[in-house]
Amino acid sequence: MLQDKTILVGITGSVAAYKAVDLIRRLRDAGATVRAIMTSSAERFITPLSVALACGEPALTSLFDQPFSHIDLPAKADVLVVAPATANILGKFANGIADDLLSTSYLVFRGPLVVAPAMNWRMYEHPAVKKNLATLLAQGASLVDPQRGTLACGEEGVGKMADVDAVIEGIRIALAPKDLAGERVLITAGPTREPIDPVRFLSNRSSGKMGYELARVARRRGAHVTLISGPTALPSPSGVTTVRVETALEMYTAVKERAGGATIAIMAAAVADFCASEQRTVKAEKQDMSLLQLDRTPDILAAIGALENKPFTVGFAAETGFRIDRAERKMVDKRADMMVFNDVLQEGSGFDTDTNVVTIISREDGGVLRKEHLPLMSKEAVASAIFDSILAHKG
Ligand SMILES: Cc1cc2nc3c(=O)[nH]c(=O)nc-3n(C[C@H](O)[C@H](O)[C@H](O)COP(=O)(O)O)c2cc1C
Repeated sequence: MLQDKTILVGITGSVAAYKAVDLIRRLRDAGATVRAIMTSSAERFITPLSVALACGEPALTSLFDQPFSHIDLPAKADVLVVAPATANILGKFANGIADDLLSTSYLVFRGPLVVAPAMNWRMYEHPAVKKNLATLLAQGASLVDPQRGTLACGEEGVGKMADVDAVIEGIRIALAPKDLAGERVLITAGPTREPIDPVRFLSNRSSGKMGYELARVARRRGAHVTLISGPTALPSPSGVTTVRVETALEMYTAVKERAGGATIAIMAAAVADFCASEQRTVKAEKQDMSLLQLDRTPDILAAIGALENKPFTVGFAAETGFRIDRAERKMVDKRADMMVFNDVLQEGSGFDTDTNVVTIISREDGGVLRKEHLPLMSKEAVASAIFDSILAHKG
């Protein structure tokens, strides 16, 4: 999404200014062109040389160095991100004050604004700062919330600039089309764990990455997203309601509670098919082979498919080998509207990778199944393609 985008980064006078260098590098690594404007206070914290080296272009610091840079830079930019954003710059932006290159460029710019405030917690709580921020948000700006922590002044409170990852996610949100606005998307992700005794469980190799990418992409595109996640090492995506569960039964219950309110349900979790018939309360002896008496777990996809007013329902079928026929049968049997098939043995596909190779199976008018084979892609790109396909078929 950042590939070939031009991002104008504003850097203001906060101790957090050094984080802007990492931000710029990461944006360029993602394929963006970055231009930077520093306020004169920012120059007290980091040098224009560091910023220029990160950008590969001079960092501009004055309205008068390159006449009309306040017109040219905003005209070429797809998004303006101010990180860190001082109380001062928020006040200037909110009140139309144009007394330096950054604040003047803001008034010229017509695209999305992302601000990542950083300041002492008392400053952040001040009614004047709150009012200025509210004005900017009402005008459509995106806020990357500052975090709680020990601030540069040594005090504890909310005012630390967000992580660079969160700022980049804020930029992606600002750039994404909002074609899923109004949709309530329910997504499951990750494996489930079926306890055998207090120390052992049955599970599988799912990392949750595909489901988490789906949640992030849906949120960026304007949906209200609920993610029901089995145990994963992944942080909850920002702006997404994440419900953490452990077993297939817990996932089933969490999904059933929320499916009625969803307009789209995507069941990307690798739900364990079996659970132990009996769950021991103390650790079983290793000689005890009766330990592995198995029962079937509830079928979550089929339960959604059976709902009277079911959401547009998407299932995932991970197979070993190109058994697309099994995915098609699953789609019909479970009344899913779409199926995403992948062969986990294929290079770059399946569990715990950042890429996937999938086939999207959808229904044409008249019920004929249509298969769309996608090439090797990042899981983020696969998630975007799945939502494009959902929008094309959902009606
Ligand atoms: C050591 C130091 C740290 C500062 N940190 C912040 C900060 O994190 N956030 C903030 O809003 N102001 C901070 N200030 C105050 C701003 O630098 C000051 O308001 C300045 O006018 C901001 O100018 P600018 O918005 O044009 O960069 C700090 C000042 C000093 C001396």
